[in-house]
Amino acid sequence: MENFIEEVVLSNEEIVRICEKIGKQITEDYQNKNPLLVGLLKGSVPFMAELMKHIKCDMEIDFMEVSSYAGVNSTGAVTILKDVKADIRGRDIILVEDIVDTGLTIQEVINFLGSRGARSIEIATLLDKPAGRTVKCQIPKYIGLEIEPKFVVGFGLDYNQKYRNLPYVGVLKRWVYEK
Ligand code: IMP
Repeated sequence: MENFIEEVVLSNEEIVRICEKIGKQITEDYQNKNPLLVGLLKGSVPFMAELMKHIKCDMEIDFMEVSSYAGVNSTGAVTILKDVKADIRGRDIILVEDIVDTGLTIQEVINFLGSRGARSIEIATLLDKPAGRTVKCQIPKYIGLEIEPKFVVGFGLDYNQKYRNLPYVGVLKRWVYEK
């Protein structure tokens, strides 16, 4: 384990098992629906890549980029930096997120995609920090693991753009961001 990590929250093996389980559920729920998985850049990339391997029905992917975080605290404002390419009218969307915390990002994106005429929108998130909610947001249908309100990095999750490349998710030691 890296010296800047306090504890491992999800090992790579556990992440693969989670993706197998969620992939199986999505396969069952979306037979003949050709869902569009919309990953939120950049944190969702490793989760999207692992998850889609375990989905056994027709599906497509697209990406959006929104920004809300600077450092370890949510800034509370969501800006759309990159829109989806696909026409989402009448589509069944699965929003793929690395982590849901305040709920602000996911709710803004759902409102945005909903206004464009998506038929259904569900959320698949690797991690959920339910204690962090500050806004009323749609409850994620597919959740890898619920965690305490601690700041985690790895498997796509960053601290100021670093640590996304760790193959596992771990709690970042406080000295890294308090120095
Ligand atoms: P929300 O809008 O507060 O729900 O935040 C969602 C976004 O904040 C995620 O997509 C992450 O980019 C970021 N985020 C929230 N918690 C953490 C964390 O513990 N580590 C790294 N990024 C986080």
